Amino acid sequence: MGVHVRRFSDPRELDLAAAEWVGRYLRSAEPLVPEPVLGLATGSTPEGMYQALVALHRAGEITFARARTFNLDEYVGLTPDHPQSYAAYMRLHLFDPVGFPLERAHLPDGAAPDPDEAARRYEALLARFGPIHAQVLGIGTNGHIGFNEPGTPFERRTHAVDLAEETRRANSRFFDDPADVPTKAITMGIANILEAGEILLLAKGAAKAQALARALQEKPSPEVPASALQLHPRVTVYADEEAARLLGP
Ligand code: GLP
Repeated sequence: MGVHVRRFSDPRELDLAAAEWVGRYLRSAEPLVPEPVLGLATGSTPEGMYQALVALHRAGEITFARARTFNLDEYVGLTPDHPQSYAAYMRLHLFDPVGFPLERAHLPDGAAPDPDEAARRYEALLARFGPIHAQVLGIGTNGHIGFNEPGTPFERRTHAVDLAEETRRANSRFFDDPADVPTKAITMGIANILEAGEILLLAKGAAKAQALARALQEKPSPEVPASALQLHPRVTVYADEEAARLLGP
């Protein structure tokens, strides 16, 4: 199987290791590829990884000068300047601190009047600049990756989705009023994710233990979107003790 799990008792170590994993593509000296295309994720889980990447950048160890990035997903109905948009998240945690030119930082256009059309445009961009060399993922409590909710066929490409109630509830902690959580998003599909050269899945906290165990130990099925990762030859999982609790020894 192509999935390798590494457990971390210290969450800070996990963040540093995740930054090193991405950093191999960005090294100022001898990056893995000359023009890296990175697939990036949002959420609370990778925040520490971005902090560690910014530190590596400040230390001169990595450079974003030749990189291009594609984010997994974006809410529909939020403009990029909305503080809860994933565009704003990325500027705050990575793009602004490292001075990354926004014309090479791609996210689905959640503010477009026609989300299906925006999804097609994103798909065209991925076709033009992809494939993604290295994809970072988080995992939802219901096993989603990106915003591919349970039931999404593994063949899906970038598309507009109705968010699961569980996802809206989980993400309501970022919004003043739970009613403000968007009901739709645009996400790369599982087929896009599986086309990446290699994948790093990050999981932190007890709330992710069940989703992670199902993703790695059950037969791959759309009921647990992250289980699709078992079909990929190069997947690394970095999990803290709580998230890895149900994985067995
Ligand atoms: C969100 C995002 C996912 C993310 C997941 C977990 O809804 N769309 O890309 O991985 O849920 O988020 P967190 O890391 O905050 O738990």
